[in-house]
Amino acid sequence: MQNNLCESQTKINLMRAFAGECQSRQRYYQAALIAQQQNYVGLERMFRFTAEQEERHAKQFFEKLKECAGETIEIQATYPASVFSDLGELLDASAKEEYHEFSEVYPEFSSVAKQEGFTDIASEFDMIAKIEESHHKRFDYYLKLWKEDMLLRSESSDELWMCLNCGHIHKGSEPPRECPVCGAQQGYFIREAEAPFTDCNMLN
Ligand SMILES: [Fe+2]
Ligand SMILES: [Fe+2]
Repeated sequence: MQNNLCESQTKINLMRAFAGECQSRQRYYQAALIAQQQNYVGLERMFRFTAEQEERHAKQFFEKLKECAGETIEIQATYPASVFSDLGELLDASAKEEYHEFSEVYPEFSSVAKQEGFTDIASEFDMIAKIEESHHKRFDYYLKLWKEDMLLRSESSDELWMCLNCGHIHKGSEPPRECPVCGAQQGYFIREAEAPFTDCNMLN
């Protein structure tokens, strides 16, 4: 049986989720600015890409509160003060935040929503938890590269690197100091396999 959303714990959980997503989005935008200042454009784009997805999650949760429109909803929650300037610390904090979200927070919200009879909201929490898991893996992947100093280096001399500024592809164990086509700095390069849309070639 479905309860009245405006008198449920799920209403409060939706507001907590909304607040959490807004903050994740802002934290990743700030991390992107730090990466940009340090000339790690690949990491800047990765943080922005993820921030845009958090913005969409916030919208999804906020819209679920439509039937309680006009109410002021009180929540109690904790949020991380991950104010770092070191990119390794930012990646580590982001990976941990995502882990907490997908393994604890959203499964709990989903189970409460199910108990309260809001199956569509429960499935929203479940689906977004899966996305947060992929965010966790993304941050963890870059954290590992960062820690091992392999972000712009490879064991293989056949590694393909893409310049995010002009699309130039370079083959080698590391990207060039400067892109030979557009002059962008080394930090503009990412592994070709990490670039969105590159698998389009698979259709040919
Ligand atoms: Fe999210
Ligand atoms: Fe996320």
